[in-house]
Order: sequence, then C-alpha cells, then structure tokens
Amino acid sequence: MTTYTNYKLIERGDGWTEVCFDQPDSKANVFTEAALRELGQVAQELSEKRDLKGVIFTSGKSDIFIAGADLSLIKGLDTIDKAIEGCTFGQQVIHRISLLPCETVAAINGACLGGGFELSLACKKRLVSDGKQVKIGLPEVQLGILPGFGGSVRLPRLAPLPTALDLILTGKQVDGVRAYKMGIADALLPQQDFNERALTWAKANQGKPGRRVHTFMTQMMEKFPLRGYVFSQARKTVMKSTKGNYPAPLKILELLAEIHGMKIEEALKREARAFSVLAVTQISKRLIELFQLSESVKKTNGVGPEVKAKPVERAAVLGAGVMGGGIAWAFANKEIPTRMKDITWEAVGLGLQQAGENFGFALKRKKLTKNQFMGKMGHISGTLDYSGFRSCDVVVEAVVENMDVKKKVLAEVERNVADDCVLASNTSSLSITEMQSVLKRPEKLAGFHFFNPVSRMPLIEVIAGAKSSPETVATLFELAKKLGKTPIVVKDGPGFLVNRLLLPYMNEALFLFLEGVSVDRIDRVMLEFGMPMGPLRLVDEVGIDTASKVAKILNNAFGARAEACPISESIVKSGRLGRKNGKGFYVYEDGKHVAIDDTVVQLVPNRTNRSVNLTDLELVQRMTYAMVNEAALAVQEGVVKTPGEVDLAMIMGTGFPPFRGGLLRYADSESPKKIVDTLEKFAAAGAGERLRPSAALKEVARRGFFY
Ligand SMILES: NC(=O)c1ccc[n+]([C@@H]2O[C@H](COP(=O)([O-])OP(=O)(O)OC[C@H]3O[C@@H](n4cnc5c(N)ncnc54)[C@H](O)[C@@H]3O)[C@@H](O)[C@H]2O)c1
Repeated sequence: MTTYTNYKLIERGDGWTEVCFDQPDSKANVFTEAALRELGQVAQELSEKRDLKGVIFTSGKSDIFIAGADLSLIKGLDTIDKAIEGCTFGQQVIHRISLLPCETVAAINGACLGGGFELSLACKKRLVSDGKQVKIGLPEVQLGILPGFGGSVRLPRLAPLPTALDLILTGKQVDGVRAYKMGIADALLPQQDFNERALTWAKANQGKPGRRVHTFMTQMMEKFPLRGYVFSQARKTVMKSTKGNYPAPLKILELLAEIHGMKIEEALKREARAFSVLAVTQISKRLIELFQLSESVKKTNGVGPEVKAKPVERAAVLGAGVMGGGIAWAFANKEIPTRMKDITWEAVGLGLQQAGENFGFALKRKKLTKNQFMGKMGHISGTLDYSGFRSCDVVVEAVVENMDVKKKVLAEVERNVADDCVLASNTSSLSITEMQSVLKRPEKLAGFHFFNPVSRMPLIEVIAGAKSSPETVATLFELAKKLGKTPIVVKDGPGFLVNRLLLPYMNEALFLFLEGVSVDRIDRVMLEFGMPMGPLRLVDEVGIDTASKVAKILNNAFGARAEACPISESIVKSGRLGRKNGKGFYVYEDGKHVAIDDTVVQLVPNRTNRSVNLTDLELVQRMTYAMVNEAALAVQEGVVKTPGEVDLAMIMGTGFPPFRGGLLRYADSESPKKIVDTLEKFAAAGAGERLRPSAALKEVARRGFFY
C-alpha cells in the first residue's frame, strides 16, 4: 500500500479498507490542491485492488470530517477557463470515488461541509453520528458560488427536491439527527466509538440499497408540472430575500432545472460551467473575503496571544429591559447561569418575558424541545438585590442610557462582586473612560455593546476604555465568541464605531426629508441599494427620541460636521417616538409597520423643495458617502485597526449589504476620489460642513483606496 501525506489506508478485514483523512499539522481537514490530488491517487489505488468489498471514509480529527475546499483556491480563480479547469479537476477526483465498484461509505462524525459533503454524496451510503459537533451542509451559496464538486448534481438525486433546494439555496447546516430525518443519511449512530460502530454497520448492510425518503408527495414533485411549480416558488422566495442582488441562488435554480434527468457526466459539465461563471464575480470574491475575515476573528482574543482571558461560567445582567432581557437570553442560550436584576419585579418579569419570547421562537420552529426550553429558561433567575453576584465572573449593565445612573449603578455593583469580576457596560454612546472614574478597579470595566435585537444581530463591539486591562478586553472578546457573536475591539469615543457611522446616514435621510424628498423615495432607494430596511424606518426602529439624543451627542463631540437634523426634535415633541409607541414615519399595527404615515409632513412646516430633483443615485450617494466620510476619520483615529474591521462591523451590526463587501469595499469600488468630488459638490450645494470631505478621506483618495 502506498503511503500518503493526508490519508491513512487501513485494512479493516472482510475486504474492507478504511481511508482516514488526517491532514498533517492542521486542526481541520480541508481539500487543498495537494489533498485532492492525493485523493485521486487513493481512488486509483482502490480501483486496482482485487477483492475489495468496501471502503469507509473516516476522519482523524475529533470534530471535523472535512471542512470543505481551500477557499484561497477559489478566491484565486480569475478567469472562467481557470475556474472550469479547477472545478473539473475536483469533480473528477470525487467522481472516481463514485465509480468504485465496491460498497463506499462516509462515516461522518464532525463538520462535513462543502466539498466534504460532496465527497460523502459520491459514496453509496452516509452514516452520521448524533454528536453535537456534526454539521452537514453546502455553504457555497453564502460565498456567492454553488457546490461544484458534484453536490449540485448528486444531492437532488438523493433527497427530495424541496430538501435539496433548501440545503443548496440557503447553505444551512444541519446536525446528524436532522440529516437523518431529511433523508441524506442512511443511519444515525451514537457518537461513542462511532468509527467502529460505523464499520460494523457498513459491513452488516453491505450491498443493500441505500435509504430513500421519497414520499408520494415528493415523488409527485419530481414530475411536471409540480416540479415547475416548486422551482417558481423557490425563485419567488429567493427574489424576496435577495432582491436579485445575489446571482448564486438564481444560477443554482437555473442549473438544477436544466440538469434534471441528464446523464451524470453531462450534468457535471454544466455544474462546472455554472460554478465558474459565479466564481469569477466580484460578489463571490467579496463574500469569501468576509467569511475569511470573520473566521480570522475566531482565532484571536482581540488583544494578543500573551493575554489570558478569564473563563466565564456565571453571569449577571443589570437592567431587565429590551437589551437586558436579550442579553440574559444570550447567556442562558449558551448554558451560562445568569442573575437578572432590576428595580421592580414587574421589570424583571418583562425581562424574563423578553428572553422567553426568543426561546419560544426556537420552540415554535422545533429547534428546541419543551424540556430544552424549560432547561434554558431555568438558567435565568430574577432578583432585586445583589444576591448571587459574588460568584459571577462577569456583570453586564444594561440600565437606562444616563451617565449618572450608570456611574452610580457600576460603583454599587463593584462593592457586591468578587475582586476579579469583569464589569461590562452595554451603553451605546456614553464614555467608558468616564464610567471608570468612579471605580476602585477601573481596569475591570470595558464596553460590551450588543445590537438590537440581541438574538438576531451578530456583532458585539468590545470597547476598551482608557484604563481597561487587556485581560478584561480579552475576557469579553472570548465571551462574545462563546455567545456565538462576532466581536470587534473598538476604541472608546462618541458612538464607538457602528453608531458613529450609522448616525450620519440616518441624519442625512432626515435632511433629505426636510428638503422635500418623500419617505417612500428615501427608503426605497436604500432598499434597492441592498440595506435591510430604509433609513427612516430604521429611525423609527431605533426610536426617534433615541436617534435624536445620540445625534446630539455626536454633534456636541464633532461639531459642525455632525450637525443634527432639527426635525427629529419637533417630531418627538409631537409625541412620535417610532415603532415603540406605534407612531413615527410609519403607521404601526401590533408592532408591525403597515404604511407610511403621510401626516408626518405636517409636523415639519419648514420643509423645502431643495432636493426633490436629485436623482435616485444622488440620494444614495448623499446617505452612503456621509458614512464613508466618517469611516475614513474613524480608521485614521484608530477606532479600529483596519478597513476590514469597519466592513465586518457594518455588515454584522447594521446589515450593510454583504454583496457589496462592506462600506469601505463599496467605497473602493466607487473610487474614493469620486466620493471626494461628489461630497464637495454636495457641500457647495448647501450641505456645507456636514458633507465636506474630511482630510482623512482626501488622504485615502490621494493614496488610491482604503484597501
Ligand atoms: N434599545 C436599543 O436598541 C439598544 C441597543 C444597544 C444598546 N442599548 C443600550 O442598552 C442599555 C439599556 O437599553 P434598553 O433599551 O434595554 O433600555 P430599557 O429602558 O428597555 O431598560 C432599562 C432597564 O433598566 C432598569 N434599571 C434602571 N435603573 C436600574 C438600576 N439601578 N438597577 C437595575 N435596573 C435598573 C429599568 O427598570 C429598565 O428595566 C442602554 O445603555 C442603551 O443605550 C440599547
């Protein structure tokens, strides 16, 4: 038997060979070019073996089967021909496995993603473990491409069409139990001694047909005209969620419709072509870069390897409001026992209700059983005093946004916790450094800024105050990761990073409204740009009063360039606070926006017509370039270290369209020089200092680009 670098071939008796993928010097198994080439050689050797009865593919890693293909290979594809060549190479290696005349089984006991899942689809059977580490899926669509090693061809032939579409179009990952239920696995086995159990099962079921879960209904769906209906519904769903901004899901639908019933070799050729068209697009390059960026965050602690984070096993939250309830949910969801303190039982009850709603949502979607729901809720206990705080590793304050209240509360907390307890403030605009001034152990405090709603927004800004110790920052950074969030470390300062950039955007939308542009047009152009909601609906969502308050804070800090639009104050005075009281730029029913409120115009008597003749493009430029201008300053001041962090933060914290690669990738694609010129034009046309290009942006334009 040949010796390979990445694979161990082990004789397992009865004519069976185990192929164990164990990439050297790596925690994961990834299909690099070398690993794929070797797999081709393995397939060749196996095909020449006489009396071979079966092959079982296993992994030498504890929680990964195969994590997918090496993304740098895909990122480097710059022509369609190169992409077809690379894709075909991978397809052929995997196709050779599918042609082995013996039984072939994938024993999946860890992450089995992308190319890894495609290899398993080329096997005759797939066995999955019930371990938590099992994640099976085809995440290619999230990277702007499609499964190109035969996955787009083989999955729809194995699983019912709706299941295949669901997995390929969303990139979702499922555990072993779910995979078995969906019909993409032949058996579900306990994770203990999994490889041995899998081998025994494989031998016992050798030669028997694989499991299929097609029901009468799913069989009907394979037939015309129901099949066409399934595709048209899927297309509608894709268009609704992507607004046509992402070519991959549409290409996937086109490909799957085209290759139905086609001979596999021809179908693979079409798959390679479709993959290649997508792989060379800028959108795919940007999505891959973002993925790599967020993965690289997972490998750091936000400070440096020499700093040790304190493990967090118990937590407390102060303030059981909108955010406190959400934060307690985030802790409990990761099995961290949490004390939640407020000043009245009524408030504590509301916080528990808030957390319960989030778990209830998972219960409704069958992501939690009733027992699990009870177990998770059991992690949160309410209190009006500090009992239980001494054993907490971390306390997050989420009381009202008022410096005096926060100082008082934090000083009180400090007296009621252990000396090594980390304190965190969820403030969205107040200075962490100032809060530190009232503490005996200021080094233990840092900002920990969640975004609303906590259950859906993946970003947390970890704000280092002037006296925050590296251990405190690292502890909160690691905690954010434990909560399943993406942390970025930002310097203390008005609005930190995300609100500092988002405010000029909302402010500019308010100015456009003051200058005669309709709510409908302002929000529509930004929705078309790809934002998840229009800026005026966002103002409603944040609260018109809150937005106005933060705008004033930034105005005080930054002066004329952050001139706050005066209209929000008068709108608030009339009793409109946005969604929270059902009255804003929109009309709300049961908390949902139902229509634009035309009467809001009457609250702004000094409205002009100055901007009504701006084109849609100019409207977008006014709002987005305002953010770019401020971002240039934030990067120059070192609020974050790299443009990549700005992009990650804006996507994760505001929903800035990922297909644009983030705010500063978008700025680069527009050209910073053009942005400077356009801002000069806006400034001269009446916006003045507010839109005057900053020296920092001009410097970027002189240099060329942000990246
Ligand atoms: N709402 C958002 O969108 C959002 C987003 C990010 C950050 N934040 C920040 O989170 C914090 C809380 O905001 P929120 O929207 O949840 O406010 P909220 O008004 O919904 O809740 C605040 C809670 O704090 C309680 N509280 C007041 N004084 C207290 C004390 N001494 N001890 C214990 N509890 C006390 C109040 O009773 C109330 O239940 C603020 O600093 C805010 O800036 C809010």
